[in-house]
Amino acid sequence: MANPFEDEAGDDRALDPSINPFRPGMGRVPPDFGGREQPLLRAKVAVDQLVAGHTPEFVLYRGVRGVGKTALLAYVRRQARARGLHTIHLEADREDERLEAARESILRDASALLASADEEIVDRLATIRPGRDGPRLRDRGGPSATLESMVDDVACLAEAAGRGVLLTVDEVHEAGDRLLKPLLRAAHRVAQDGRPLGVLLSGLPTAAENLFDEGQTYTERLARVDLGLLERDGTAEAVRRPFARDADLEVDDLVIDAVHDGSGGYPWFVQLWGEALWDLATETDRLRLPVAREAGERVHLRVEDFYLSRWRRVPSGRAGLLVLALADAGGDAPIGDVLERIEVTHQAISPARRALLDLGLCWAPSRGRLAFSVPGFADWVQRTRPEA
Ligand SMILES: Nc1ncnc2c1ncn2[C@@H]1O[C@H](COP(=O)(O)OP(=O)(O)OP(=O)(O)O)[C@@H](O)[C@H]1O
Ligand SMILES: [Mg+2]
Repeated sequence: MANPFEDEAGDDRALDPSINPFRPGMGRVPPDFGGREQPLLRAKVAVDQLVAGHTPEFVLYRGVRGVGKTALLAYVRRQARARGLHTIHLEADREDERLEAARESILRDASALLASADEEIVDRLATIRPGRDGPRLRDRGGPSATLESMVDDVACLAEAAGRGVLLTVDEVHEAGDRLLKPLLRAAHRVAQDGRPLGVLLSGLPTAAENLFDEGQTYTERLARVDLGLLERDGTAEAVRRPFARDADLEVDDLVIDAVHDGSGGYPWFVQLWGEALWDLATETDRLRLPVAREAGERVHLRVEDFYLSRWRRVPSGRAGLLVLALADAGGDAPIGDVLERIEVTHQAISPARRALLDLGLCWAPSRGRLAFSVPGFADWVQRTRPEA
């Protein structure tokens, strides 16, 4: 056996694995976003408007787990900063009842703005105060009110600095009204005053639905953009572009077919495929079907682990039953049909159904339907019949 550190020969890889551009993994920005021209365009318009000192429309990106919400927000923040905008990011967390983590994130990301502000501006701020060990907060009568006031202060600081601010919030489905309402209310007011604050949110498909149902005025400014699985063209873009750019290598149509069929257009799986193809490539100018077959075997092992870890997160009891029945119904079915199989009423299954939706394991493609959010999961459950 050769020692790879000392012996370069014996390595028949065509491409250097240490510069593999693919990025399988939660929240990692892919080398190329396949099939996301429209969602990215929405964000670009918002960024351009902020750069020009205007207030953009707010956007809520929604999609099941693993479609690329976090990656998209991270990429847009990067682009925004490269264009001179200030960015503030927070991740909603159900446990954060007193909004301590949320306020902490805003404060941390706003500290650079505060540090460069004139004394006269700082005096005008209602909540954010400079302190000896970094900025502090003055309580405005409860967590929500304080947070609302912080957003005002951030806008004020940004305006004084002549810079637009992009605020991004991920995992919005975790946010209760306590976080979202004051945040959007304040952002809406800032927008009415024409100050350059942009807001991009992302979360599971039902995120913030109650705010729209309630018809809150600030939702008029909030556009909903759904992120779904990739079409074949999207899968092709996500795979072909990195190979063309980084290795000047052409990918055969048959390989794209294999990736698209194998991944179901699920972005996270597409990255796994891309990574395996890169590592296993045998030619430097072209990628052909035999490499895809080998890559498929490697991806298969990773995906099986992934399904198993998903399954392990299913709460015991009825939720497990519901998963098995949904798998038998093909993984996307009217909830009534699924319940008939296990002879449980709508009412009795409701908490279990809710738990699966909250976990992001399932989603409701339309009213009264239930579906797994990741391609291939139904097959895996049918095939392995995992124990609850
Ligand atoms: N348009 C795309 N084309 C190809 N790959 C993508 C695309 N969008 C995201 N990815 C990849 O998909 C994976 C999942 O992305 P990400 O973690 O952002 O999803 P998510 O929607 O935030 O998931 P979750 O709901 O679990 O937080 C990452 O590896 C990312 O690089
Ligand atoms: Mg995410």
